[in-house]
Amino acid sequence: MKQFRLKTTIQQYDTCREFCDTFRIGKEDLIITSEHTFQDYFNNIPLEAKVVFFRKYGAGEPNDEMVEAIYADLKDISYNRVIAIGGGTILDVAKLFALKKVSPVLDLFDRKLELFKEKELILVPTTCGTGSEVTNISILELVSRHTKLGLAVDELFADYAVLIPELLEKLPFPYFATSSIDAFIHAIESYLSPKANPFTETFSLKAMEILIKGYQVIAKNGEEARIPLISDFLYASTYGGIAFGNAGTAAVHAMSYPFGAAYHVPHGESNYAIFTGVFKTYQRLHPDGRIKQLNTFLAGILHCSADRVYEELEELFNHIVPKKALSQYGVREDQLEEFTASVMEKQGRLMANNYVELDKETVYGIYRSLY
Ligand SMILES: [Fe+2]
Repeated sequence: MKQFRLKTTIQQYDTCREFCDTFRIGKEDLIITSEHTFQDYFNNIPLEAKVVFFRKYGAGEPNDEMVEAIYADLKDISYNRVIAIGGGTILDVAKLFALKKVSPVLDLFDRKLELFKEKELILVPTTCGTGSEVTNISILELVSRHTKLGLAVDELFADYAVLIPELLEKLPFPYFATSSIDAFIHAIESYLSPKANPFTETFSLKAMEILIKGYQVIAKNGEEARIPLISDFLYASTYGGIAFGNAGTAAVHAMSYPFGAAYHVPHGESNYAIFTGVFKTYQRLHPDGRIKQLNTFLAGILHCSADRVYEELEELFNHIVPKKALSQYGVREDQLEEFTASVMEKQGRLMANNYVELDKETVYGIYRSLY
C-alpha cells in the first residue's frame, strides 16, 4: 500500500508582524528561537510570550544533552503552544517540547516513554533545507551513543508550518548553501525510495527543478543572486519535506550521520560529501529501474546527457558548497569500518528506503570511494 498525507496546515505571511498578529501570540505561548533571529525580526513587535534562546544551550547541531538542559529550565513553566522559529536544529528540538513527556531523552528515543502530544505546535523555518516544518521527525545526536538518530512519530507533526520569506533574507550564504543542498537530497532520495508514489514524486521533482534552476542562476551571477529567489528556495525545501516526510530519505542520510556526528559537519554538507557516492552506486547496481527516469529528468534541466548527470550535479553544486573528501574532514581510514557498522546497526529505518539494497561491503566501498 502506498499513501500520501500532509497533516500540517501550511500558511504563508509576508512579514513576521502579520504572523504574530494573526496567531495572536501571547503569554501562554513559548517561543523557541535564536537570539539573533529574535533581535532581527521580532524586537519591534510587542510580545508577551516566554522566549527560549536555543543557543544558550550549545552550539552546532542538536543533541540530547541540549534537550535535557532546556527541559530542566522549562519543566516548571506552563505554556499552551510551542512556536519554534529557526533552522532544522531548533525546529527538531522544539517538536519534542510539544510532548507531555520529554525526559529522559534517551528513553524517549528508545520509545520507552509514553508519546502524547500535549501542546499545539507551530513551526516557522528560517533556512531553506530541512523541511522539518512538515515532517514527523526529530533528529538528535545522542552523545553517549556517538551517532545521530531520528525519532519519527506522528505526535511530532506540527499543527501549522508557517512560511515567511522575510526571515531568510539575511541568511548567510554558507547556511543557505548547506540547507538547500539538504533539501535537494531530500527530494532526490525520496524520489527513488520504494515508498515513493505519484504524489511524493510530484513534490520531489518540483523541488529538484527549483533548486537546480536556482543554483544555475547563482553559479552564473554570484551569491547575491539568491536573494530574489529566496521565496522559491523556501517553497522548494518545504516541497522536499513533504516528499521525504511520506517516502523517506535513505542511504545518503544514513551514511552521513556517523560521519557528521563524529566531525560536527553541518548536516547538508555531510550529506553532500556522501551524495554522489551513493547515487553512482545505485546507477551501477540497477541502471534500468526508476533511476533512468530520474536521470532523464535531471539531464533535461542540466542540459547534459543522462549518463553525465551526477558529474554535472557535482560541478554545479561545487559553486554552492565545495565538495571535500572524507579525509579532508580529518576522518581516519580505520574509521570507515566503524561508520559502516554504525550504519548497518543503527540506521535500518533509513536503509529500508534505499533504491537498491546496499550490503555492508557496498556501504564500506562507498565510504572508501569518498575517502
Ligand atoms: Fe536532511
